[in-house]
Amino acid sequence: MFITFEGPEGCGKSTHSKRLKSYIEGKGLRVLLTFEPGGTQVGKEIRSLLLKPESVLDETTEVYLFAADRSEHVSKIILPALNEDKIVISDRFIDSTLAYQIGGRRLPEDLVRYLNMVSSKGLVPDLTFLLDVSPEIGLKRATQHGKADRFEQEAIDFHTRVRKSYLRIAKDDPARFVVINTDDQTIEEIQNKIRETIDAKLGDQN
Ligand code: TYD
Repeated sequence: MFITFEGPEGCGKSTHSKRLKSYIEGKGLRVLLTFEPGGTQVGKEIRSLLLKPESVLDETTEVYLFAADRSEHVSKIILPALNEDKIVISDRFIDSTLAYQIGGRRLPEDLVRYLNMVSSKGLVPDLTFLLDVSPEIGLKRATQHGKADRFEQEAIDFHTRVRKSYLRIAKDDPARFVVINTDDQTIEEIQNKIRETIDAKLGDQN
C-alpha cells in the first residue's frame, strides 16, 4: 500500500506521517516513511536548491527540479520498498506539484501533469490524507521555529491558491482522498481520524 500526506505549509504532515508509521508498525507490518523533496542522496541537493531563499528560479526550472527529485525517489526508494511488500508513506508526492506548481505558480496544467506522470512512472497513491489548514494558521505554525524557506516566504495569495487547488484535487478524486481540516482540531483528534481510516483500509485488504 502506498499512502501519501499532503497539505499547505504548517498543516502537520510530518507529525502525522511519523505517528502513522509507528501505528502501522505496532500492527506488525513493515513501513517505509519517506518524503519529497529530498528523499534520496541526489534529492538532498535538489531540495537545497529548491528551498533556500537565495535561489532565484524560473517557475519551469522549479517544476523540472521537483520532477527530477521525484524520478530518483520513485525508482530508488519507493518502488523497491513496495516490491518488498512494505507499506510506503510519503510526506508529499504528485499532488504537491499539482497544488503548488499549477495552483500556486500557475504553470500550464498539461506540462505539470505530463511531468508528474513521467517522474512518478505512473505510480498513484492508494490513499492520500490532505491535511487542510488556512494559510494564516499554517504559516504561523510553519515559521515559528526558524527562518522561512523559499515557499514559506511567498505572499499569502500564493498560499491561498495552493490550498484551494488542493481542495479541488481532493474533490475530484474522493475515492483516494481523505480531507481533514486541522485549524481547530487537536493532534489527537486528527490522529484518531487517520487511524480509523487506516484500520478500515487494512481491514479491507485482509
Ligand atoms: P516540505 O519539506 O514538505 O516543507 P514543509 O514541511 O515545510 O511543508 O516541502 C518543501 C516545499 O516544497 C513545500 O513548500 C512545498 C514545496 N513543493 C512543491 O512546490 N512542489 C512539489 O512537487 C513538492 C514535492 C513540494
